[in-house]
Amino acid sequence: MQILLTQEAIAEKTRELARAISRDFLGKTPILVGILKGSIFFLADLMRHLDLDHEVDFISISSYASGITSSGTVRLLKDLDCDISGRDVLMVEDIIDSGLSLSYLRKNLLSRNPRSLSIVTLLDKRVPRERKVYVDYVGFEIDDLFVIGYGLDYAERFRELPHVAVMEEADQRAVDAARQ
Ligand code: IMP
Ligand code: MG
Repeated sequence: MQILLTQEAIAEKTRELARAISRDFLGKTPILVGILKGSIFFLADLMRHLDLDHEVDFISISSYASGITSSGTVRLLKDLDCDISGRDVLMVEDIIDSGLSLSYLRKNLLSRNPRSLSIVTLLDKRVPRERKVYVDYVGFEIDDLFVIGYGLDYAERFRELPHVAVMEEADQRAVDAARQ
């Protein structure tokens, strides 16, 4: 696999995003909503750099069957534990590809009447999109490649890598062979 973003580059960008978020949410106590499972590393690192009181909750949806292409439909697998009405909510996402997951989640959370809803994503793929995706904070724009590591998986593997890497055919073949 080929490293796309080093641990150091991710750490620096996370600190930068945390500074901007801390400034924008000054005096507020936002709820960070981590979108499981890919965002866990980014969320944990972001939380540690926020100079801000905040809470955290999780939501889980599925749009990808288990491979690299979206199934096109979104299903809610785990809902939030808390009530977000009247609260400032910051959704924390790992990567935006088609934007389908985020559009679904944004609509779903907006229907619960939060005071505000913002979105931070570590990665944003440069892909043509049918609908516009509203994102407040973006870490890195990347090419349309399948990436793994720092929480991101291929078939539930590779999340533990400390960096973001481009998945190569050999990585994919090794996982696929082990699954047979
Ligand atoms: P979207 O709904 O097409 O925007 O897909 C977003 C979700 O798909 C992300 O939250 C990831 O969980 C997953 N995903 C999209 N691209 C990648 C990738 O390159 N590697 C790993 N997971 C990805
Ligand atoms: Mg995700």
